[in-house]
Amino acid sequence: MEKRILIDLNDKANWLYESTSPPTPGGTIVEENRVILMPEGEHRLFAFTDAVMHYAEDAYQMSHDHRSGFETFFVDSGSMEFYSQGKVATLKKGDLIHIQPFVTHGMVFNEDTRYRGIFQDWAVIDDFPETYRAKAFDPDASAKIAASGAPASYDFNIHDAKNYVRAEASEIPAVRNPERPLAQYKFDGVTLNQVVGRWETYGVREIWQAKLEKGFSAQWVDFPLLPELFYVTSGKVKFTVYGEEYTAFEDCLVKIPKFAPHSIIAETDAAMYDLGGLSMWELFLADYTAGTHTPEDVKSLKDKYKIQIKSFGGLQK
Ligand SMILES: [Fe+2]
Repeated sequence: MEKRILIDLNDKANWLYESTSPPTPGGTIVEENRVILMPEGEHRLFAFTDAVMHYAEDAYQMSHDHRSGFETFFVDSGSMEFYSQGKVATLKKGDLIHIQPFVTHGMVFNEDTRYRGIFQDWAVIDDFPETYRAKAFDPDASAKIAASGAPASYDFNIHDAKNYVRAEASEIPAVRNPERPLAQYKFDGVTLNQVVGRWETYGVREIWQAKLEKGFSAQWVDFPLLPELFYVTSGKVKFTVYGEEYTAFEDCLVKIPKFAPHSIIAETDAAMYDLGGLSMWELFLADYTAGTHTPEDVKSLKDKYKIQIKSFGGLQK
């Protein structure tokens, strides 16, 4: 399981832990959640979930904040009302939400809605394996654990969002869309759209969407020091990892372990997110596009910003 590289989110074999939210007073289960990847390392990165959310007549927006942890959600289908910082807007496929500590957020789903989450410093997911095991043993285990005074794994505060003002999605700071990028850089065969900045993750990572043209290719350095995680949302991208080929398509993750030699070629026009985000792309691209550089300059910029690409931006016809 640890060696998974190509992960089709729609293949149940890739769902590590499944859980559901408690029913509403009217008896509707709003959330069916699946953990796809467990957190790793100091900042608990690479944790990924896939959830199907359902409409409930008596759904409550449950606006809340937490004092630690970062949640980034991608709306993949359906529609939802998103409550945050005094405003409420309707979100649809293509929108994403980046929630930082202290940012209020609540959601009501208008229909069956699939959304996916990537997390940072989010202790909740660490407990999933043992919670899952306890619930398999006793269906009431979660309630019994809570009643026994187990400390909450995060500081959670509920707010009443009933007077929030109707707004456009673009007016809510936490809502992002690659059509409204924070920064954008275009090269031959690829457009890079930043949707989360490093200044919004305590400096740990950043999130970009890459729109690839058919034939675009990129090769990473031979034994990259940083792991990577890609999320393909349209088209087909062939990854070669340790000499093995994997064709990723819509709704696939590709998890590249550290040290793994890898390259990509877009088999069709495609879009994918770089979710690992450890390379400092924004600073690198700002400097790289600011002038002409000798090969030595480019190498020192790559070293400075942890850019692990060897060749980039070429279209192979
Ligand atoms: Fe939350």
